[in-house]
Amino acid sequence: MLKLETLISEDELQQRIRELGAQITKDYENKEIIVLCILKGGVMFMTDLVKHIHVPMKMEFMVVSSYGDEYKSSGVVKILKDLDEPIEGKNVLIVEDIIDSGRTLKYIKNILKERNPESIKICTLLDKVEQRETTVDVEYSGFTIGNEFVIGYGLDYKQYYRNIPYIAVNRE
Ligand code: IMP
Ligand code: MG
Repeated sequence: MLKLETLISEDELQQRIRELGAQITKDYENKEIIVLCILKGGVMFMTDLVKHIHVPMKMEFMVVSSYGDEYKSSGVVKILKDLDEPIEGKNVLIVEDIIDSGRTLKYIKNILKERNPESIKICTLLDKVEQRETTVDVEYSGFTIGNEFVIGYGLDYKQYYRNIPYIAVNRE
């Protein structure tokens, strides 16, 4: 068992998510979007975020596996479940739990770009900015955090702890 300490509380998360939703609503005024959740980590964030986005949308889900150990992604990404519909000419908003090295999202974004969407933007809840090993544009970011392994609110350690309603760090 890990010894959990709150890094970002439920209230802080929900407050920031409302702000992000308002900003996204404004930016996509009179447009339709496809909100693409990267499973499994992005699921909690996506379901809360879409409640605050007031433009016509479809929700899509993608499952990718990025090989690596339980702490780090390798950047070698395999698509296990793809979107159900083509995105040609569509505005795609990718919703991710966390960006670390940036490799996973860069890979996903490149694949999706080849499908000729009208636009692709990224919305991440957490961003370990200092850890970036590749450049990837992030249009919406909830919180910048340091180089700590965090869990909860969709984020896992060995697939556990995703259900915790706040972001926690291990203080063992
Ligand atoms: P990147 O490819 O290095 O940007 O890694 C992104 C992925 O690594 C995320 O989608 C998470 O699945 C995982 N990850 C990175 N940092 C953490 C963390 O602190 N806690 C849980 N998962 C993390
Ligand atoms: Mg993960």
